[in-house]
Amino acid sequence: MSAIRFFIPRDVAALAVGADAVATALQSALAARGMEAEIVRTGSRGMFWLEPLLEVQTPAGRIGYGPVQPGDIQALLDAGLLAGGAHPLRIGRPEDHPFLAAQTRLTFARCGIVDPLSLEDYQAHGGLRGLSRALSLGPAATIAEVVASGLRGRGGAGFPTGIKWQTVAATQAAQKYIVCNADEGDSGTFADRMMMEGDPFCLIEGMVIAGLAVGATRAFIYSRSEYPHANATMRAAIDAATRAGLLGPDVFGSGREFTLELRVGAGAYVCGEETALLESLEGKRGMVRAKPPLPAHHGLFGKPTVINNLISLATIPAILADGAKAYAEFGMGRSRGTMPVQLAGNIRHGGLYETGFGVTLGELVMDIGGGTATGRPVRAVQAGGPLGAYFPPSLFDTPYDYEAFTARDGLIGHGGLVVFDDSVDMAAMARFAMEFCAIESCGKCTPCRIGAVRGREVIERIMDGERVAANTALLEDLCETMRAGSLCALGGFTPYPVLSALRHFPEDFASPAKEPATWA
Ligand SMILES: Cc1cc2nc3c(=O)[nH]c(=O)nc-3n(C[C@H](O)[C@H](O)[C@H](O)COP(=O)(O)O)c2cc1C
Ligand code: SF4
Repeated sequence: MSAIRFFIPRDVAALAVGADAVATALQSALAARGMEAEIVRTGSRGMFWLEPLLEVQTPAGRIGYGPVQPGDIQALLDAGLLAGGAHPLRIGRPEDHPFLAAQTRLTFARCGIVDPLSLEDYQAHGGLRGLSRALSLGPAATIAEVVASGLRGRGGAGFPTGIKWQTVAATQAAQKYIVCNADEGDSGTFADRMMMEGDPFCLIEGMVIAGLAVGATRAFIYSRSEYPHANATMRAAIDAATRAGLLGPDVFGSGREFTLELRVGAGAYVCGEETALLESLEGKRGMVRAKPPLPAHHGLFGKPTVINNLISLATIPAILADGAKAYAEFGMGRSRGTMPVQLAGNIRHGGLYETGFGVTLGELVMDIGGGTATGRPVRAVQAGGPLGAYFPPSLFDTPYDYEAFTARDGLIGHGGLVVFDDSVDMAAMARFAMEFCAIESCGKCTPCRIGAVRGREVIERIMDGERVAANTALLEDLCETMRAGSLCALGGFTPYPVLSALRHFPEDFASPAKEPATWA
């Protein structure tokens, strides 16, 4: 009889709530009962409130239990865990759980299901189909597929990925590079991390397809020091892929070379900005470069470079495997395909929810996320990271779509949503936006370097009730200068959280007016 198979995530979100201890408790309880079992350590399914999620393989499929603590193991075994028996923690087949059943998992199809470091498992679940199709299509047709899919960069700017690839492919150079932006600095985001921990071969496959398509032979993943688990898994996956011939001098017998290295940044938000990232990769301080020239023409070490967010690259295998048309069928308007939305902050059902564009912000926060974890009313949602606007519930009808968000001065960004309840002080959040910008500014341009410091001071004066009308006008003027005059989006977009807080929550800025200072 083959050993019973259990699945417990090794994703850091599960480790943080005791997944290792659950695995150890299960192992020893099974040994004490003389049972043989295999415990596969997977990535996370993305239902964080159910972590640690324990799954057991049964003839009816995998049955999940969560959140499991080590002390639950004996009772679970007594309740017939091995056969998927009834227990208050039983959630049934995870894929039937409403949170997963309603998703469209294309990019994250395997995450939480496969053993992240088994290429065999990867292939058994559809891995490498995209690469083999790309090899048969050839570079030009591969790029045409990416263009036709409508995929836009998932890192923040939403630039069409296929057009970027076309530009690099059309630029003549002896050396070209692919760079994966895994700096993932946005508040409330974790999709890049989950992919590196849960399905790293998917990213590798996407990067190999990109390299073959544009004629790049070397590639880098730029990750962050705050992600030690993801980095360890990614390194092990690169080694395994190199041993299997997926990376190296002759990718799968194609005669084409493609090597990949992981580099880890020291931790600066601005190093997620593509040109600062390239500086950092070159071993310099992470300072933003003026554009043009674009990285596609003059990127890493001055060579043509595709720099894409991790999720953009990890979506490529699904697009190639099932065709651009199938991918583009999801979404609305010019926002095609799916987005792994990350539900974070004060939210009941936090986690990763991959869905076609077009769902409304309210559906994401209230129906899918279940409102706040505290049970208090939702007051604000910051969408798109620290440079994104705060949305009040009156704007919850906004469809999740690049253009619809822009029309409301908002940002989809990397897909993060951070929820706040009615205890939030929005003036303090506006102050924090300026403070964040001041701390993280690379210092290259004045509107950001000086403006953010002055902005924080002006907000503090408003919060103190000092000449509120005049200081509010000054703040709006300063925001306009930062928006129009900053070299990159750190300084240029900081006004969005500030002005949205001011516009939608003016009551938080209204303190009893103070007399102007008198000079004795
Ligand atoms: C201050 C700042 C921080 C950024 N941080 C990230 C990041 O952490 N990850 C990312 O993919 N893109 C980030 N971006 C966007 C990148 O500059 C760039 O648009 C992206 O890597 C391009 O890849 P994509 O087209 O696949 O989105 C940031 C931009 C700015 C201005
Ligand atoms: S806006 Fe800020 S981060 Fe961007 S280049 Fe200017 S100083 Fe640097």
